[in-house]
Amino acid sequence: MNIIHRPDWALPESSATPEHVVLNRRSFMGAGIGAGLLASSPAHAQRAEQAADPSAGLYPAQLNPAFREVDRPVTTENVATTYNNFYEFGSHKQIWRAAQALRIRPWEIRIEGMVERPITIAVDDLLKRVSLEERVLRFRCVEAWAMVVPWTGFPMAELLKIANPTSNARYIRFDTFQDTAVAPGQRQFWYPWPYVEGVSMAEAQNPMAMMVTGAYGKPLPRQMGAPIRMMLPWKYGFKSGKSINRITFQAERPKTFWIASGPTEYGFWANVNPAVPHPRWSQASERMLGTDEQRPTLLYNGYAEQVASLYQNMAGEKLYM
Ligand code: MTE
Repeated sequence: MNIIHRPDWALPESSATPEHVVLNRRSFMGAGIGAGLLASSPAHAQRAEQAADPSAGLYPAQLNPAFREVDRPVTTENVATTYNNFYEFGSHKQIWRAAQALRIRPWEIRIEGMVERPITIAVDDLLKRVSLEERVLRFRCVEAWAMVVPWTGFPMAELLKIANPTSNARYIRFDTFQDTAVAPGQRQFWYPWPYVEGVSMAEAQNPMAMMVTGAYGKPLPRQMGAPIRMMLPWKYGFKSGKSINRITFQAERPKTFWIASGPTEYGFWANVNPAVPHPRWSQASERMLGTDEQRPTLLYNGYAEQVASLYQNMAGEKLYM
């Protein structure tokens, strides 16, 4: 991550308005977000957020027994919710406080492109049309850290049924919200905003591909991509775009945020493979967040059985970065 082609005269992040100043200013703007901003810990912020979140009653969702556990312990909630990549709020890991400025209601998702009929759907209406389930999954960042999270969401295939794509659609592009008023990172114009990610139609139909709306038995906290994000656990974490508000079905492969930022470092498929290093990080092992433990990285992050068949007959494609 963190490819910066910033011009010489641009402000370094350290000399931009300090985060707490931005937060204090915002805490007086608009009802609803104040409680979260004034809270002193992620747990407090999340309790305040839940009180205001109309979907709170949907959690915890039923655990899918096929994803009850993995080969390592679940990462502590406080760790997973305070070490995040969300460049919209800063290109460092401690963005959880800044992310509380994101307004997650009302939240509409535009579904368009190669679909029978474009629609705009409020996230709470979408939640009424899908069945939520919990899955304990490995999550692996290309920066060689990893965690295990009980995510709540629904298969991406259910989204496809709602969207009704036409037979010409081959890829799906997912856009993150864009609002420089709440996301100071989006004022860093050297990044190609908005954050865009994408999958092929075949990937979206694989049962491992999810849309996630919750974690740790609660609605997703803002820093993890509330109110709705992607979850592709066999790929590097950057493929799982956060806070999605536009979904476009299209014939061409989407140009993603990281491909646009660093085409020599990032590719479209980005499947986890311990044998294929990133130019800056070996992928052979991974550090479990919140511990010093290093674990050997697993091919497809341990989900080869479920997803490897997607990539047969794709010789010549850069499948692993
Ligand atoms: N989505 C958006 N919109 N912006 C981002 O900066 N970072 C990605 C991904 N999705 C990112 C994003 C990266 S690099 C990772 S590793 C994961 O989110 C981190 O998810 P987490 O913070 O919930 O652990």
